[in-house]
Amino acid sequence: MQPANRMAALPPSFFAGLTKRIRELKAEGVDVIRMDMGSPDLPPPPFIVEALKRSADEPHTHGYTPFGGLPGYRAAWAEFYGRRFGVELDPDGELMGLIGSKEGIFELALAFVNPGDVVVVPDPGYGTYTAGAKFAGGEIVYMPLAAERQFLPDFAALPPDALRRAKLLWLNYPNNPTGAVATLEVFVEAVALAREYGFLLAHDAPYTEITYDGYVPPSLLQVPGAKDVAVEFHSLSKTANMAGWRLGVMAGNPDVVRIMSSLQSNIASGQFQPITDAATAALTGDQTWMVQRNAHYRERRDLVVAGVRAAGLQADTPAAAIYVWVRLPEGTDDQAYARALLDGAGVSATPGVVFGPGGRGYLRISLGTPTDRVRQAMQRWADWAKRAS
Ligand SMILES: Cc1ncc(COP(=O)(O)O)c(C=O)c1O
Repeated sequence: MQPANRMAALPPSFFAGLTKRIRELKAEGVDVIRMDMGSPDLPPPPFIVEALKRSADEPHTHGYTPFGGLPGYRAAWAEFYGRRFGVELDPDGELMGLIGSKEGIFELALAFVNPGDVVVVPDPGYGTYTAGAKFAGGEIVYMPLAAERQFLPDFAALPPDALRRAKLLWLNYPNNPTGAVATLEVFVEAVALAREYGFLLAHDAPYTEITYDGYVPPSLLQVPGAKDVAVEFHSLSKTANMAGWRLGVMAGNPDVVRIMSSLQSNIASGQFQPITDAATAALTGDQTWMVQRNAHYRERRDLVVAGVRAAGLQADTPAAAIYVWVRLPEGTDDQAYARALLDGAGVSATPGVVFGPGGRGYLRISLGTPTDRVRQAMQRWADWAKRAS
C-alpha cells in the first residue's frame, strides 16, 4: 500500500526501534533498565484516581463531550494559571483542552504553517515541533541551544531572512532534553522578536511543576502582552503523573485558540468526561503531594549526575524536569555509545541526536525509573565503563 507523499516527512520512531531491541535482549535473559523514555513511573495520588471512579459511576458522563474540553476542565486550568503564575485567562476563549499536549503541538503547525513557511525549532528539541512542521510542508530552521549559553537561545544569531519568513517559533523551558531553565527575560526577548517579525510564538511548558532546590519556573504568558503573539502548551502527563491519561491544554492568544478549535473539531470528538473530571481534581485539589514526588526525582537526579561522573562523563545538575543531559567525550558517537551501553550494561539511554543534530555527542537519561533501579543502573554503568577503559 502506497502512503501519501506527506508521510515521507515523518521520521521513523526511534523508540519503536529501541523497544524492539530491548525485547530481543529480554528474550535472551538480559535485565534491561530503561532510562530512555520520559514517562513517570509513579502513579497520581489516590484522590485523583478516586475522582475518575466517582465520575465514571455517574450515568451521564459517558457521552461525547464539548470540543476543546468541558467548561470545568478549562476553568480548572484558568485557576491553575492564576494561582501558579498570576496569569489571567478566559476559560471560554483563551484555553483549549487537548488529548495530551503532543497532539496540539503537532496540530498547531497544521493550522498555521503553509508549505515553504519557516518554523524555528530548538536544537536539540522535542521531536514533535519538527514532525508537525515538516508534515505541514514547513521549512525547518534550527535554533541552536549550546552548552556555552546554558542551552538558551541566541535570538540575535538567528538569520534575519529566516525570521522574516518565520510563521512559528518554538520554545520549551524547563527544557527537554537538556534540563535547562529560562528566566522571564528570555521570554520577554522572544515576545519582542515575535512582535517585530510577526510570527506566532509557542512555548511548550510541561515541566514547570517538576523542580528542585526551590527553583520556580515562569510562564511565558507572564510577559505583558504575550497573549497578542503567543500560546503556551501545558500538560498533566508529568505535572500530575498522568501521562497515559492524555490531558493537555493550550492557553493564550484567542485567535489561535479559535482556529485550533476549528481544526480539532474536525479531528477529535472531545475526551472522556471522567478523565477530565479527575484532571479538574488534580488541578484544583491538594498540590502538596508534588513535594514528595519531586523529592523522589531529586534523589534520582543526584544518583544519575554522580553516576555518570563516576563513569567519566560530564553532566550539569538540572534545576527542573526529569532529564539529565550527559556529555560524552569529544568525538564519541552517541548512538554507538547508547547501543554499547545497552548491550554491555543493560542500561537504556536516548542518544542525543534523536533530538536533532545539536544533540550529537550527548545522551539523555530519564528520571522516570524507580530509585533502586536508577541506583543499580548507575552501578552497572560505572562497572561497564571501567571494564571498557
Ligand atoms: C517537551 C515536551 N513536550 C510535550 C510532550 C508531550 O506530552 P503529552 O503527554 O502532554 O502529550 C513531552 C513528552 O515527553 C515533552 O517532553
